[in-house]
Amino acid sequence: MKKLLQTLTETFGPSGYEDAVRAVVMKEIKPLADEVRVDALGNVIARVKPSKGAKKPKRVMLAAHMDEIGLIASHIDRNGFVRFINVGAATGRYTLGARVRFLNGISGVVGFDRLENFDESVSLSKMFIDVGASSPKDCPIKVGDVAAFERPFAEMGKRLVAKSMDDRAGVAVLIETMRGLKSTPHDVYFVFTTQEEVGTRGAATAAFGVDPDIGIAVDVTPVGDTPGSIKMEMKLGAGPCIKIRDVFMLADPRVVKWMVSAAEKARIPFQREVLLIGSTDARAIQLTRAGVATGGLSIPIRYTHSSSEMVDYEDLKNSVKLLAALLGKAVSF
Ligand code: CO
Ligand code: ZN
Repeated sequence: MKKLLQTLTETFGPSGYEDAVRAVVMKEIKPLADEVRVDALGNVIARVKPSKGAKKPKRVMLAAHMDEIGLIASHIDRNGFVRFINVGAATGRYTLGARVRFLNGISGVVGFDRLENFDESVSLSKMFIDVGASSPKDCPIKVGDVAAFERPFAEMGKRLVAKSMDDRAGVAVLIETMRGLKSTPHDVYFVFTTQEEVGTRGAATAAFGVDPDIGIAVDVTPVGDTPGSIKMEMKLGAGPCIKIRDVFMLADPRVVKWMVSAAEKARIPFQREVLLIGSTDARAIQLTRAGVATGGLSIPIRYTHSSSEMVDYEDLKNSVKLLAALLGKAVSF
């Protein structure tokens, strides 16, 4: 899974421009699915049919988003510097000093206007991207061009670090789950969504199209285990998190119970997730059509939305195990 995760995280795919990531996903999953389609928003929808003789299979949708946060050029100044706005939750503190790459392959460095007070934090509106140009004429970037962080994958002991670990870690977990799935009593839809970072837009159309009975979003969840972090229980290396609450959703208690008992039976370490910041595709799935019983499996992550997001490899492997346990047996609700 490490090699796959390296490939996925080193591929560029800010929201709305997921093509390169989709190509990697397609190559991996085509041999593993019974049917694969791509909808109008670019979501990849891969179906694994229930095994023969399965009684009243439930339609289960698992979703992980392919997109990452990014930047979009809004103005080129007379000296060739590129002003920009965020695509998704790119923040000042993590964008300052970053190196970025545009979809046309051009790299740039994020600089900032003179500070009045050296310790002040800088907002994106005071930053610019220097691509090595000196006038609009020789600037290879035009208004509307999209960029993402540029940073190679790295291993640090048991931890893996990369840009776009949110949510390529989830994408890798879904692919590995598909690879290990021999048969299932469910009608499973593995969905690789687009535009999550700008408000779970891909998941909304994908869930409408799939019309699932049960939904689970596989995404990352920020932790509270670093010095001075906000008080949250989740930590790296203690197992996948079973979502109970985040800012925009309450997980269906039946799904929570199903996930907890599957983890306990299979002796997979897990954590209970009450997240104080952010949300996931689970919200869009839950609110589609007349409503869907929905939960979330979350991979603990540090430094969310930076160019060096960190996860624990054991958490990824245990996430695959938990999904395998869920897909292996029928559910009664
Ligand atoms: Co995110
Ligand atoms: Zn995410």
